[in-house]
Amino acid sequence: GLVNTREMFKKAMEGKYAVPAYNFNNLEQLQAIIQACVETKSPVILQVSKGAREYANATILRYLALGATQLAEEMGHKIPIALHLDHGDSFEICKSCVDYGFSSVMIDGSHLPFEENIAVTRKVVEYAHQFDVTVEGELGVLAGIEDDVSAEHSHYTDPAQVEEFVAKTGVDSLAISIGTSHGAYKFKVKPGEEVPPLRFDILEEVEKRLPGFPIVLHGASSVVPEYVELINKYGGKLEGAVGVPEEQLRRAAASAVCKINIDSDGRLAFTAKVREYLANNPKEFDPRKYLKPAREELVKLYKHKNINVLGSAGKA
Ligand code: G3H
Ligand code: 13P
Ligand code: NA
Ligand code: ZN
Repeated sequence: GLVNTREMFKKAMEGKYAVPAYNFNNLEQLQAIIQACVETKSPVILQVSKGAREYANATILRYLALGATQLAEEMGHKIPIALHLDHGDSFEICKSCVDYGFSSVMIDGSHLPFEENIAVTRKVVEYAHQFDVTVEGELGVLAGIEDDVSAEHSHYTDPAQVEEFVAKTGVDSLAISIGTSHGAYKFKVKPGEEVPPLRFDILEEVEKRLPGFPIVLHGASSVVPEYVELINKYGGKLEGAVGVPEEQLRRAAASAVCKINIDSDGRLAFTAKVREYLANNPKEFDPRKYLKPAREELVKLYKHKNINVLGSAGKA
């Protein structure tokens, strides 16, 4: 069955790696995540956003995830699998996910004033912990590339707030903002120019204040250039898409960061392969024909992340 994130994070902290949190909305993504994580013997967090719930239906997603745990066992190697709500924006949606059998939820009150963030997060923790469901909170707002103030320090997590937040809410893990953002356009850089480094000084200050406490990194896709090029080669138009260099993610994974969130890279890999297949096989119209290579590419991508970036391979 599903497990919460407590034990996973404890081991990740001790072993100096990060557990992958891969978003999914459909069958093919889920199959790829499970295959990659079983084959690399990695723990995994299956992550469902509010948008994913609306797209695929919470009941179906829950049965898909349960089916996935069964599949993982049948594949001959049992790995810890958590089903997690990504970016819950209210007590109600978090409660609903707990009631639907999720093993972990995120309450994202990061846009709220500090005291309100504490209040809603505390409320979710009190509810979720009755069912042994773990809770992720967030302090600091991830920058948006369109946002003119993205370079302002006010967006980053203020390390002076983290102890009070964790103590007053009782959260099991904390997402922080150190310069990443969601999506495929993370930094404004000219071609060939290096992206600005993440704020590891903030992360280190947080680690000092919360020794041994699990930290979460959102917006951690690398925006693999090969996929962007393939998409553009076959009719796409993604200009200036850029992500977090793998080297920086490796450094984060070796720190108190115990969970690394990846969604966009999967979307890019999937879209690249579907575009390529359809462009090269204009007569095909069976979805299985073009979804299969996309799914296979996802398996490759997730294995690569587990083995070479997060260090979670072989830990389960
Ligand atoms: O945080 C964003 C995740 O990538 C989920 O995205 O809300 O489009 O499903 P979504
Ligand atoms: P990316 O858009 O970088 O994949 O981030 C995903 C994420 O943080 C989901 O919560
Ligand atoms: Na880590
Ligand atoms: Zn996120």
